[in-house]
Amino acid sequence: MLLLLAIIITAESIETFDNSDINCFIRHLKSLNKLESNYPEYRTRNEIQDCQIGVKKFKIDTYKKITNNDCIQKRLRGENWADYKMKAIVLDLSQHNDEYQRLDELKNVINVKLKEATRYCRLEEEYGELFDVFYNLHEHMDENDKKLVACFEKYSIEYGLIFNYTITSDSHSMNFNCTEIIDEFMITMEENLVENLKQENSQVTQAEIECSLKIYRTEKFIQKIIITVIRGKMSLNETQKLNEKRNFIEFFILITQKVQGCLL
Ligand SMILES: *[C@@H]1O[C@H](CO)[C@@H](O)[C@H](O)[C@H]1NC(C)=O
Ligand SMILES: *[C@@H]1O[C@H](CO)[C@@H](O)[C@H](O)[C@H]1NC(C)=O
Ligand SMILES: *[C@@H]1O[C@H](CO)[C@@H](O)[C@H](O)[C@H]1NC(C)=O
Repeated sequence: MLLLLAIIITAESIETFDNSDINCFIRHLKSLNKLESNYPEYRTRNEIQDCQIGVKKFKIDTYKKITNNDCIQKRLRGENWADYKMKAIVLDLSQHNDEYQRLDELKNVINVKLKEATRYCRLEEEYGELFDVFYNLHEHMDENDKKLVACFEKYSIEYGLIFNYTITSDSHSMNFNCTEIIDEFMITMEENLVENLKQENSQVTQAEIECSLKIYRTEKFIQKIIITVIRGKMSLNETQKLNEKRNFIEFFILITQKVQGCLL
């Protein structure tokens, strides 16, 4: 869905700008050192009006036209993506043949930045949903979930993941082996990770899978999940919960970036 959005965007806008608009763009880009200071302006009949308004409008329109996804818009703004688009429009109008290569490179940058933002936001959404699953796990538990959560509590205390925490599970009747339960959970999680890797890249090799799993293990992803389940049982306020969520998402996006290193 998000990827589809990204594709629509690459279609060039049919909007037209007059010479004084373009001169404003040129001045704006020069002021940011994004265009060399001797880049020629166009002749225009009208004296140049207030450039600030035109530049601002261009940026607002550019971000609005590209997507209505807040996350993608925010990331693109953070990169001043509209300035690149603006420069592409300026270079595109240039009569000089030697601008073609520069324009090609610029268009490539524009697309790469857009893809990166789209990808980041897709991950953010996916990991946000994953967080919700674990954070809310204690709400609707079947027998197996109850065992799992009881073992997570035991594990968190044993490994010092959490302090001053009162166990709320009915651990008196814990006549099950938590080592086995947690190992089993870890295996299931790893199977899911492998499944995801295969879905994203059907060419993925066994060596690449091993390399990725090694990263997940050294980064202790399982501990992050356990602590998230436990946090869900604590009465955190909304601010604290959102912090946990942000933290969880950033953690998994970072691991995902590391895993990319395995897939070359
Ligand atoms: C745990 O609780 C004790 C007593 O209430 C307190 O002194 C201690 O600082 C707490 N430890 C942490 C890590 O919050
Ligand atoms: C739990 O299972 C593990 C692995 O199967 C085993 O090594 C351990 O001794 C068991 N612990 C208990 C208390 O049965
Ligand atoms: C949430 O809890 C933290 C830590 O106890 C506290 O500092 C913060 O003010 C609380 N925020 C809200 C909105 O209640």
